Amino acid sequence: MQTQQLALFLDVVEDTTEPTIQDRSSTFVDNMSLPIHRWFRYSAGFSAQWVEQEIKTALRRGPVLLLEPFAGAGTTLIEGERCGVPAIGVEAHSFVYRIARSKLAWREPVERFVELAREVRAVAESRPGEADGFPDLIEKCYPPDVLTELDGLKRAWQHLADGSPAAELVWLAITAILRICSPAGTAQWQYVLPKKEKANPSTPLAAYEIQVRNMAADMRIRQQQPAGVAAVVYQEDARACASIPDGWANLVLTSPPYTNNYDYADATRLEMSFWGEVQSWGDLHQKVRRHLIRSCTQHVAANKEDLDRLLTEPDLAPLAIEMRPICQQMAEERLHHGGKKPYHLLIAAYFSDLAKVWQALRRATCRGARVCFVIGDSAPYGVYVPVERWLGELALAAGFHSYSFEKTRDRNIKWRNRKHRVPLQEGRLWVEG
Ligand SMILES: C[S@@+](CC[C@H](N)C(=O)[O-])C[C@H]1O[C@@H](n2cnc3c(N)ncnc32)[C@H](O)[C@@H]1O
Repeated sequence: MQTQQLALFLDVVEDTTEPTIQDRSSTFVDNMSLPIHRWFRYSAGFSAQWVEQEIKTALRRGPVLLLEPFAGAGTTLIEGERCGVPAIGVEAHSFVYRIARSKLAWREPVERFVELAREVRAVAESRPGEADGFPDLIEKCYPPDVLTELDGLKRAWQHLADGSPAAELVWLAITAILRICSPAGTAQWQYVLPKKEKANPSTPLAAYEIQVRNMAADMRIRQQQPAGVAAVVYQEDARACASIPDGWANLVLTSPPYTNNYDYADATRLEMSFWGEVQSWGDLHQKVRRHLIRSCTQHVAANKEDLDRLLTEPDLAPLAIEMRPICQQMAEERLHHGGKKPYHLLIAAYFSDLAKVWQALRRATCRGARVCFVIGDSAPYGVYVPVERWLGELALAAGFHSYSFEKTRDRNIKWRNRKHRVPLQEGRLWVEG
């Protein structure tokens, strides 16, 4: 899943190259060759094939009701549909939620989508857009001719969009080409680096044509297969899972944000700025970040968190004694680092949020349910945090019966670009009960 996130970990760079255990189930890489999954490169996502395998294993034990509390780009939901099991997802990030919801519109008649996509293109060609009036980030990322063409597509879409699933599919087609059309360093799903250059960016209309063609081809393939029960995704908070009925799910396959300082709000700044959903850094916090699990230092800084208050929260009681000295060590360590990042607050806030997620999952799952969290541990400023064990303890405190950890990858083993030498791992936390 989060190999790209990890590469971005600014002060705590955890090298993820050349893992000794080669397991790609926690990464999105292979999804880029799979129908529908490939419509948007969501590097924070995990492997669809792994999800399919787990659902099939669970089906051998009986009927499955599948919940994905951090639905991301919808990997679990799409596989749930393919395996014929009812699936519900929860995603709190408005832009990521829209990606998942658009992908779930694959059932839309293909011709309706293709027709609208053609109309959008025709209008864009007859009425060119403008390169002015975009936020600075966008103007830095595109030369005027490219931006004019992209703006033409955007305006044409805005003119023709009628709120239908076909319109959402066309929105996705335009959104999915934004990064490949920029000559700036806009590697998929990473922060944007306007000063870096990339070779051979695509031209917008050509990229749009290919994206629409691929999406239509995938829809045709998928529509020839058994449809399965339509999955649902809600834009809401995994700390409550408010739309999930009590005791509904018997299988949860998910991956929460890691404690690796990845900023999910900043990661979508390019797309959200292009569509005019955010204008500024402040907007990103108000409209996106504040709704998410606190998994980056920008988040806790903006919230002006306080360590003592966090550590005395009742939800953290199962961990507080062990957590306090670890957070204090981070608080001291930060004074020796340029960025002085408040990892001590981040760690306490993160586990406080995840405690609430476990409580919500306990309510939303039946007795005997199985829950899998794909997760990695971390060592901010070199101070080790036993993430999987702490999450397991919080699950027990919420009323689950047992947990175990299945390692899938070693991380931070190559000692390159590193800020610390703590060996780290990624794997699956299985919780039952
Ligand atoms: C690691 S990604 C999950 C990726 C997903 N498994 C996939 O394959 O696409 C974690 C997701 O959790 C979402 N998220 C963060 N805080 C959340 C919250 N409080 N409630 C629901 N989703 C949240 C993020 O926006 C992100 O999409």
